[in-house]
Amino acid sequence: MSAKDSEKRIPQQSEPVCALPVNRREALAIGALTAAAAMARPMAASGQPSAIDAQVVAPGFMRIATRVNGQEVELAIDPRASLLDVLREDLGLTGAKKGCDHGQCGACTVHVDGRRIASCLTLAAKADGRDVLTIEGIAGPDGALHPMQQAFIDHDALQCGYCTPGQIMAAIACVNEGHAKSAESIREYMSGNICRCGAYLGIVAAIQEAARKMERA
Ligand code: FES
Ligand code: FES
Repeated sequence: MSAKDSEKRIPQQSEPVCALPVNRREALAIGALTAAAAMARPMAASGQPSAIDAQVVAPGFMRIATRVNGQEVELAIDPRASLLDVLREDLGLTGAKKGCDHGQCGACTVHVDGRRIASCLTLAAKADGRDVLTIEGIAGPDGALHPMQQAFIDHDALQCGYCTPGQIMAAIACVNEGHAKSAESIREYMSGNICRCGAYLGIVAAIQEAARKMERA
């Protein structure tokens, strides 16, 4: 199989929940460190000619220009591709997870123009001209964890961690949209994000703590 064929492989429906012998705190730290490397591979720097500029987009594909985690990206995509598949398969941003692929679990939550969306139900074509933010893009420029990431660690708001990127992205939106005023409101707003490990007590506590920090910032 050529490298190009390999890039076009059919997305796997699941992946190992924990492929490395690391604990949860180490896994989060590894995620933050590898995010920058994952971002670098397919990106075209703003204002510079991209690989796609020099190519004829294949029949049946379309060209989109979007911004992912602050970086300009041009892609030739299948118009039927979901944003989740393009993020994971074309851009190597595997933080957003494919849980149900039917909009029912929240594991694939990312932000588009500041609003949370289920990326498995969103066509990548709809990201054209928009800002996409994934879990790989929320840490500070110096690598400092986002207050929500830190609060999830401090409150042990995860077990296997599979739902966690989606939980954190939804939780940030929950605070930003003013729905984190009470535990009841948080539970209601976060009800679309399923945790099969049942870490809900820690998740609600983490959101309450992070909300206080985010509102002070
Ligand atoms: S994978 Fe998108 S909601 Fe479950
Ligand atoms: S921590 Fe395992 S599914 Fe939520």
